[in-house]
Formats: sequence, structure tokens, C-alpha cells
Amino acid sequence: VITGTDTGVGKTVLACLFARFFQEQRHPAAVLKPICSGGRADARVLREAQDGRLTLDEINPWHFREGLAPRLAARKEKREVRLAKVLDFIRRTRKRHPCVVVEGAGGLLSPLGTDFDTRDLIVALRAVPIVVCANRLGAINQVLLVLEALPAKYSRRAQVVLTSPERPDASVRGNVATLAEQLGSGRVHELPWMAEPFHAAGAVWNPRIKGMMGRVFRATGAA
Ligand SMILES: Nc1ncnc2c1ncn2[C@@H]1O[C@H](COP(=O)(O)OP(=O)(O)OP(=O)(O)O)[C@@H](O)[C@H]1O
Ligand SMILES: [Mg+2]
Repeated sequence: VITGTDTGVGKTVLACLFARFFQEQRHPAAVLKPICSGGRADARVLREAQDGRLTLDEINPWHFREGLAPRLAARKEKREVRLAKVLDFIRRTRKRHPCVVVEGAGGLLSPLGTDFDTRDLIVALRAVPIVVCANRLGAINQVLLVLEALPAKYSRRAQVVLTSPERPDASVRGNVATLAEQLGSGRVHELPWMAEPFHAAGAVWNPRIKGMMGRVFRATGAA
């Protein structure tokens, strides 16, 4: 499960890179974004990154108009999303795809459905959490807070991906080094800045990015 310290930190960028990585490896994995709010843009880019192998509804069954946390956006439409239904959807996908990557929405504790957030999803699926954080001043604290909020078993296996901003500040090298020192270097990964508009199909050929995707994938134990 791809989660993050915040919204807009690069979860979809990473999810698209996974999708391209799997396409390239001919790995029959599926990359999903079960719940979208503020439209279905994330689901559309994931569909494109998977060359249309999955329909929009197979990637994203629940979507809401307002650009709010999904629980609140659903409430505006007098609708709700229950954890049991989302688990059922992901487990059904899992029967057809040996590996499933799920992008949450917002940060770890952002309200996703009526009775759950991304942490509940991670625990119910016994998933490996991938924590995405923008590599800027404050990143160390944000990553550690998210790891602290996970049950120990999940925190221990979590992978951290620091996404480089276009204009790095003075903290970036120290952020990577400090988190690697505290968590173990094999669990902290650095995603370079890619030109905008971001194209996953081209980016995954970049040896640095390809290498990083391979390391993250192996570290999740799903490879
Ligand atoms: N390493 C990067 N290279 C290029 N662009 C990036 C990178 N990281 C983030 N971006 C850009 O930052 C923006 C936000 O990224 P993204 O959509 O992946 O965030 P998110 O965490 O999925 O947000 P949300 O909570 O809305 O789902 C996008 O426009 C994306 O193209
Ligand atoms: Mg996203």
C-alpha cells in the first residue's frame, strides 16, 4: 500500500512508476486507486500507465467530485464507503493478479471511508506500507511520525520513498542520511526529480529510477 506524509507528495508518481516497472517486467501485477476524490485523475493516469489493461472501474470503483478527504467528499453526495467493501474489491483483484499495489489517498490517517483510513487498510490487508514524503525541510519528522503511527510490525517493514523536489533545499542530503541511519539504508529510497509533465513510460528507462524501483519492489518482499 502506497501511503504518504501528506497529499501531493508523489504517491501517484510512484504508483505509475510501479505500473510501468511491472509492464516492462511483464509482471501481471495490478496498480489500483480504489477511492478518488476531486475527480478521477489519479485513476486515469494509472490506467494509462497500465496500457489500459484494467478499466477505470477496475482501478477505481469509488470516486467523488469534491476535492476533499474521501470520507467528507462522499458525505457531500450522501454516500459512504465501508472498509469491508474495499477489502472485498482488493481481494477479488488479488485473485487475478499475484501482486497488487494500492494507492491510498492523502496521508496515512486521512479519512478514506466511513469506518477506515489507510492505516486500517494496511493492517486489514497485512500489506507492506510504502511511505512517500517530499524530500524537503521537515521530512525527517514527517516520516518518523507516520512510522510511529503504524503498529510496530508494519512500521518495521515499511519502505520510505523520498521524492526530490524540482528545487532542492539544503536539507535533502541530511534527510536521506539521517533516515537511513535510523531505519537502515535498505529501507530509504530516493526518487529523483523528473521533468514535468511527468511521463512514467519514459522515466522508468532512466537507470537510476529503474534501479530504485527494483530495490523498493524487492524490499517489499513481493518480488
Ligand atoms: N519526483 C518527481 N518528479 C516530477 N514530478 C513530481 C515528482 N514528485 C512529484 N511530482 C509532481 O508533483 C505533483 C504531485 O504528485 P502526485 O500527484 O504523485 O501526489 P500524490 O501524493 O499522489 O497526491 P494525492 O494525495 O492528491 O493523491 C504532480 O504534479 C507530480 O507530477
Ligand atoms: Mg495521488
